Amino acid sequence: MTFKKRILCIGAGYVGGPTMAVIADKCPDVRVELVDINAERIAAWNSDDLPIYEPGLDEVVKRNRGKNLFFTTETDKGITESDIIFVSVNTPTKTFGQGAGLAADLQYWEKTARQILRASTSDKIVVEKSTLPVRTAEAMDRILNSNGSGPHFEVLSNPEFLAEGTAIEDLLDPDRVLIGGMNTDTGQKALDSLEDVYAAWVPRDRIIRTNVWSSELAKLVANAFLAQRVSSINAVSALCERTSADVNEVAHAIGRDSRIGSKFLKSSVGFGGSCFKKDILNLVYICRQHGLPEVADYWEQVVRMNEYQQDRFVGRMISEMFNTVAGKRIAVFGFAFKADTGDTRESPAIRVCRHLLEERAEVCITDPKALKNARYDLGQDTPGVTYEPDPYKAAEGAHAVAIMTEWSDFKSLDYKRIHDTMAKPAFIFDGRNILDHDKLFDLGFNVYPIGKAARTHH
Ligand SMILES: NC(=O)c1ccc[n+]([C@@H]2O[C@H](COP(=O)([O-])OP(=O)(O)OC[C@H]3O[C@@H](n4cnc5c(N)ncnc54)[C@H](O)[C@@H]3O)[C@@H](O)[C@H]2O)c1
Repeated sequence: MTFKKRILCIGAGYVGGPTMAVIADKCPDVRVELVDINAERIAAWNSDDLPIYEPGLDEVVKRNRGKNLFFTTETDKGITESDIIFVSVNTPTKTFGQGAGLAADLQYWEKTARQILRASTSDKIVVEKSTLPVRTAEAMDRILNSNGSGPHFEVLSNPEFLAEGTAIEDLLDPDRVLIGGMNTDTGQKALDSLEDVYAAWVPRDRIIRTNVWSSELAKLVANAFLAQRVSSINAVSALCERTSADVNEVAHAIGRDSRIGSKFLKSSVGFGGSCFKKDILNLVYICRQHGLPEVADYWEQVVRMNEYQQDRFVGRMISEMFNTVAGKRIAVFGFAFKADTGDTRESPAIRVCRHLLEERAEVCITDPKALKNARYDLGQDTPGVTYEPDPYKAAEGAHAVAIMTEWSDFKSLDYKRIHDTMAKPAFIFDGRNILDHDKLFDLGFNVYPIGKAARTHH
């Protein structure tokens, strides 16, 4: 079959994989290829056991793989043959040198740009899918178009707003698709071409066209605003615990105000995921670089509040369990940063478990999808940690259960059975407020929700 367009995506991760699978599904006349330097990941994409878990992803991949959706490690060939190249490589926070701990580490991104330049023999549209600092497209444009008479590259920004756990749903029915391009003839033509890809299933009035810089900045700001809401309600949760107010009631009452809205007002042990913290720190770094320390401090506090919430959670566990958890078994229910994903990057469970281990607790982790990543994060043979797929076994002999992820599986467990096998007094710390606290109290648990009064038998 001859294809109308050929799309390449460099980076077959949590964003590249699902996004390209949906494009292939909705555009049968477009050939979509994903490449990655991680050969193991590509092999998994070509197998029955995909490298990431997302509801609905299996079906979309299996429906299109081998028809117009391909996974390979042949990056140069893919570059040469494509018309549009999405760059969806990771952009973690820099751990060294200037900007360490704040700025985005752009080495993977720059290597990719140079590889595109080397392997291209015809004009290309290069789309920044990764979340990048404002004005990265400009640097990319300079590297790519540094060859004078060679092929022309048009750089667009098209940040991804999918949320893990609902990635396929979000991609199929996005609130909006944002594409930014240069205000030149070739820039606008490139935008038309990318818009046409999405218009195969997204209504055109949901496709927002901006200049490149607005598009890049909007992604960072969107994540900063979302995380800010979580930190705001979590700050309120601390006050609720001191005043007998109930954070769910407060959230419900304020969320009914249409100016505020009800989404993203769930108090918890804190936000996680690969993006929020890194993108806010990136925003903070950019503000500092532009001589705006007050603006930087304002956003940085969103991250600090998130760390405070996690530390407060562990602090409460220790103080309520008679000021010591040394030698006590703690069953950690959930390690993924949210439900319906196996992703554990920046999961609050990591910080909470590390803190418990420092206090010499015996931590037993259970999670329906994230045990492999948990082993990677905390170590396979780390003293004090065990991994157990069965939550009932994880809780056997435990002094406390700590709910770290809002998996629906945890809501339907038989907590009487769990209570019967635990050490007494038995504690539950519900870091996601997902359980029936009155019922647990009646079963004999001492119950500690987030942002509401504890229910204790002493
Ligand atoms: N995960 C999310 O929910 C999400 C949502 C929106 C935006 N983003 C952004 O999208 C980008 C990708 O995130 P992700 O979660 O998919 O990351 P990821 O780590 O899951 O995937 C990135 C992939 O790129 C590959 N890679 C790195 N350098 C490469 C190179 N030179 N050539 C080929 N492959 C290379 C890596 O091996 C990895 O498989 C990041 O900038 C992130 O901020 C992520």
